[in-house]
Amino acid sequence: MIISASTDYRAAAQAKLPPFLFHYIDGGAYAEHTLKRNTEDLSSIELRQRVLKNMSELNLETRLFGEKMAMPVALAPVGLSGMYARRGEVQAARAAAKKGIPFTLSTVSVCPIEEVASAIDRPIWFQLYVLKDRGFMRNVLERAQAAGVKNLVFTVDMPIPGARYRDAHSGMSGPNTSMRQILQAMTHPQWAWDVGLMGKPHDLGNISAYRGIPTKLKDYIGWLGNNFDPSISWKDLEWIRDFWKGPMILKGILDPEDAKDAVRFGADGIVVSNHGGRQLDGVLSTARALPAIADAVKNDITILTDSGIRTGLDVVRMLALGADSVLLGRAFVYALAAAGEAGVSNLLDLIDKEMRVAMTLTGAKSIAEINSNLLVGKQG
Ligand code: FNR
Ligand code: LAC
Repeated sequence: MIISASTDYRAAAQAKLPPFLFHYIDGGAYAEHTLKRNTEDLSSIELRQRVLKNMSELNLETRLFGEKMAMPVALAPVGLSGMYARRGEVQAARAAAKKGIPFTLSTVSVCPIEEVASAIDRPIWFQLYVLKDRGFMRNVLERAQAAGVKNLVFTVDMPIPGARYRDAHSGMSGPNTSMRQILQAMTHPQWAWDVGLMGKPHDLGNISAYRGIPTKLKDYIGWLGNNFDPSISWKDLEWIRDFWKGPMILKGILDPEDAKDAVRFGADGIVVSNHGGRQLDGVLSTARALPAIADAVKNDITILTDSGIRTGLDVVRMLALGADSVLLGRAFVYALAAAGEAGVSNLLDLIDKEMRVAMTLTGAKSIAEINSNLLVGKQG
């Protein structure tokens, strides 16, 4: 297959992965309306074409929380990445570091913090979920700090896992998961050897390290439901704010009122996100939610966004809508599943090239010049 876009990697990932893993990545909540709207609404954002402005020198660099980034893109936290490629979190982190952008490690990663942080020179970002066992949080934050993490991404839109029907159909959740997954692995021998056999141990590395026993993946979705804490409120965040000295970024904000609360709380950043359409179906796409949030808090807090971003053109669109930077979710995960570190590196190069085309033809020479003036209907 000739790879020219993240959509090609999606097809390659589908061919390689056992279906229970592909559909866990690819799917969303309920009838997947929000999942679809994330990409549809973003693709409907029209940019003003500008010409003859000598665009031979473009600068994609930016700074976020004092950290230099080769482009305004970071890899999003994605649970179980070590099941999509052998020690997948390490491979993705290496590709991000080589490109000069941050990698965010999920709480529910296969590889533990120490394994990923020691594999690259650049500090990783760490994403925190609140488990009912609050002892875990202090333990994992101390370990993150010891591993050199500065930026903490605190995800607030998953007090309960979304209803994901595809997982039940695919064998990711529901009855007889073990047997169904083994049968699927047998018909995907390349994955079975490379990841299933050679990529062990397969467990939730950060949680096993705390509990001292492997947290098995047999009933991963059930485990999320049993261990995530729906009682979480702004009060729970206070001790973390006191404890964590570095920047704290709240991920999963979709409403201007919550964005204002994040500012009042003292967060350093927000990620405008609907979790890639995986939580509440029927909520706004981020392309539609972002402008009002940017209007409400643009000068008070750093704004990141994700959900539906597949190309460098999409990155430019999100910046024009008011984001300072974006996170890539599925776009990099498909590439990781298809071709490991090399796939993610290539995907990031594609995003870079696509950003350059979009900037050249909209007359934006630097990231600072990408703003609402680029949007059709706005006069600059
Ligand atoms: C996620 N996401 C996620 N977010 C988070 O804070 N912690 C996590 O562990 C995970 N796990 C996870 C697994 C998989 C398979 C996916 C696809 C997503 C959400 C992720 O960080 C991001 O918000 C979305 O992926 C963005 O949407 P797109 O870019 O995938 O459309
Ligand atoms: C998910 C969780 C783990 O979206 O964030 O599946």
